[in-house]
Amino acid sequence: MHTAMSIIIKNAEDIAKMRVAGRLASEVLDYITPFVVPGVTTGELDRLCHEYMVKEQGTIPAPLNYAPPGHAPYPKAICTSINHQVCHGIPGDRVLKSGDIVNLDITVIKDGYHGDTSRMFLIGEASIQAKRLSQITYECMWLGIEQVAPGKSLGDIGHAIQKYAEGNGYSVVREFCGHGIGKQFHEDPQVVHYGRPGTGAKLQPGMIFTIEPMINAGKAGIRMLGDGWTVVTKDHSLSAQWEHTVLVTETGYEILTQSAGTPAKPF
Ligand code: MF3
Ligand code: CO
Ligand code: CO
Repeated sequence: MHTAMSIIIKNAEDIAKMRVAGRLASEVLDYITPFVVPGVTTGELDRLCHEYMVKEQGTIPAPLNYAPPGHAPYPKAICTSINHQVCHGIPGDRVLKSGDIVNLDITVIKDGYHGDTSRMFLIGEASIQAKRLSQITYECMWLGIEQVAPGKSLGDIGHAIQKYAEGNGYSVVREFCGHGIGKQFHEDPQVVHYGRPGTGAKLQPGMIFTIEPMINAGKAGIRMLGDGWTVVTKDHSLSAQWEHTVLVTETGYEILTQSAGTPAKPF
């Protein structure tokens, strides 16, 4: 069945609540940062984040039991994607070791609204290649964000990201994308991280969506592991991802997933 796209325009009250949810999601990343070191398990990071959300913030971890059509309920509070894992890695007994790169993806619900953000972490001594992939992916996210303004289109965002990623010898994952977000975790529109300028939906003030490019050091192909969630690169090349939740304003954009520990704008 085809469902027509309907992008919800948020009002002032929605936006105020999305600012709170976004800041809280980002503060979970600030909180967990000192624990993301060699020797820790992803399961321990999940446990710590879950406890912080529920007990300190009064937020709900949106991933826990999240079950989109065709998926078993997601079993944990956060996503931890290591090295060639692209996204939706499930926390468990895996021990992080020096040289690993890991994405921690946090989505909280506060007062009925979602905030969704992720960062890359380099464990111990990461390789030059791993650092470069993480940095270029961060810049990809930012180049996408800088396209956001009324009258621009979704294709402008995707094009900026794709051009920079491919220009640096990397590839863009096609099967997963950014998304509208608000009272629902995943709303319209789909924000793909490739495309042609001037194509796709036109941006309007009050739209809120994520930009979350997944960039592979090798080929773009992916495959799903037997757990039904963890996505990996088919060629086992490294993959990186960064994510912000962004509001379209009258003059441009506002990043909603900001906190004291948010990394600086790269340019
Ligand atoms: N946070 C992810 C996103 O950015 C979605 C995770 S869904 C889960 O859209 F079920 F795997 F948690
Ligand atoms: Co998202
Ligand atoms: Co996310």
